[in-house]
Amino acid sequence: MCGIIGYIGKRQAKDILIGGLRRLEYRGYDSAGLAVLNQAGLSVQKSQGKLGKLVNQLQSDQCIGNVGIGHTRWATHGIPSKTNAHPHYDSKEDIAVVHNGIIENFRHIKTSLEAAGRRFTSDTDSEVLPHLIGSFYKGDLLQAVKGALRQVEGNYAIAVISTHEPTRMVAARKGSPLVIGLGENEHLVASDVTAMLEHTNQVVYIEDDEIVDINMEDVRISTLAGEAIQRNAATVMWDISQVQKEGYPHFMIKEIMEQPSSLRQTISERIQSGRVVFPELEPLRECLGNPDEFNQIVFLGCGTAYHAGFVGKYMIEKFARIPATVDMSSEFRYSSPVLTPRTLVVAISQSGETTDTLAAVRYAKEHGAAAIAISNVVGSSITREVDVTINMYAGPEIAVAASKTYTSQLAVLSLFALYVANLRQPLDADSTETLLKDILQLPSHVEKVLTQASSIEHIAKRYSTFNHFLYLGRHINYPSALEGALKLKEISYIHAEGYPAGEMKHGAIALIDDDMPVVCIVSESEVHEKMLSNIQEVHARKGRIIAIATKGDLEIEALFQDTIYLPQIHEFASPILIAVAFQLFAYYVAAHRGLDVDQPRNLAKSVTVE
Ligand code: G6P
Repeated sequence: MCGIIGYIGKRQAKDILIGGLRRLEYRGYDSAGLAVLNQAGLSVQKSQGKLGKLVNQLQSDQCIGNVGIGHTRWATHGIPSKTNAHPHYDSKEDIAVVHNGIIENFRHIKTSLEAAGRRFTSDTDSEVLPHLIGSFYKGDLLQAVKGALRQVEGNYAIAVISTHEPTRMVAARKGSPLVIGLGENEHLVASDVTAMLEHTNQVVYIEDDEIVDINMEDVRISTLAGEAIQRNAATVMWDISQVQKEGYPHFMIKEIMEQPSSLRQTISERIQSGRVVFPELEPLRECLGNPDEFNQIVFLGCGTAYHAGFVGKYMIEKFARIPATVDMSSEFRYSSPVLTPRTLVVAISQSGETTDTLAAVRYAKEHGAAAIAISNVVGSSITREVDVTINMYAGPEIAVAASKTYTSQLAVLSLFALYVANLRQPLDADSTETLLKDILQLPSHVEKVLTQASSIEHIAKRYSTFNHFLYLGRHINYPSALEGALKLKEISYIHAEGYPAGEMKHGAIALIDDDMPVVCIVSESEVHEKMLSNIQEVHARKGRIIAIATKGDLEIEALFQDTIYLPQIHEFASPILIAVAFQLFAYYVAAHRGLDVDQPRNLAKSVTVE
């Protein structure tokens, strides 16, 4: 978590750092801070809370200079406070550091630095870095940072500046993302490319155990061991409008509304002449097609990505007939999973940076499995851990709660299931054809769901005062119920539980009364009749029902007033439409409660700690 940024060039660093931090705030917003070099030394300003607070308190004569670093924090060690905010600096206030990650052996380092007379002011693990670099400094910042990093255990992406060498910045990475932006006589350092899109689309992705020596003219990358690295710049295809609200009150509603086009991007190149194509899967094609090779698929992810994997499990079992399981990345390593060279892990991560998912993939690879990643960020850390990456091309997602990236994950997974199925056995032509047709039409189906935004808002407004919700679904839409509940929890702080409808009578039914709205997924499916019986059980106990049904379902129309209608669609494509309806519902509930939809309390979009 946490976002870091650095600038070195001819312009005022302050404005560029603040602009970058605004884009990085999704990574954490417990505090924000800047350090800028000028003739007087180091000008540092910090504040607890969101970036806006720092911006309001910054005076025009503060943080003036052309070289600086900035940070937005998601607290791990030490409470959210001004003292624990980054940048941290050493006792002489001549070296400043911003850090994303965790220094695991910080206690040990801190004790020995304190014994040597260094005075610490915060409770963070990160503060050991400037002190340690200071203790190694002998006139060369690069060497001092190298010396310090050889002592630390844990994860980091750091940017370091010093009053001793005011035209230099040093950055390094191990386990946390770091990108260098290349400009004309200016360079940027950041946790991700969105922070620099306004200034450049030429970037260099830094890898683990690499260190970068930067000045206005030059960027030199080397390994910590000293080997020089030559790496070409990559061109970022995203443009600045994609990371701006463009008139919407929140990024989340903008991103929900973007789904017809994000899905089009995800799908279009992957269906050609009625067949699914995945050029990136070529290296694994033979094993994917051969039942004597892969005989088990394990889907992994956290949060929303875990729900996508859950849907993926149903799809792969249904179409490709390969036994599949789904696990939360954070649980996977500790559950003694049975992995063999015939196991394929499919790790899903929007950011490609979630530490638990990275660790789970590493574990699976060490135990002989092959791994595919489904990610939205080209060049993200996960792409270096796996055999093959499928990019979902959903475009940048800024709101902390995932929306368009979830539907793109589902689209990729449905195509993946059909692709593998086709390699293994001739599929029932009818069902594949209808599913493929529906996948192709997803953008227009989603548009139809979006046209109901105002009626969903109307329902959401009426229910926005309730404090508990139950989401019920079955079969492939059981994960949809989980995701619907998660969305509501994340942004509206309402307690919500996703539950398999058939299981309700074994416990959860005891919760139902007229204070408990129950959101029931009763769209057309194999389990439609069963779902109808479950819904009647809720109805009989005075539960308030919000139904998600297929347009034209007369039975539902007659029974329930609060219904969101979906266009007719193949059951296995329905989770995408249901997700859109649930996103709108959660969004409007949170908006009516007056909450900060894009940056919900305690959360961060990219969780880079275990
Ligand atoms: C965080 C976010 C969730 C997200 C999860 C996984 O918890 O708040 O919205 O689903 O991380 O993120 P990933 O980038 O791995 O998909």
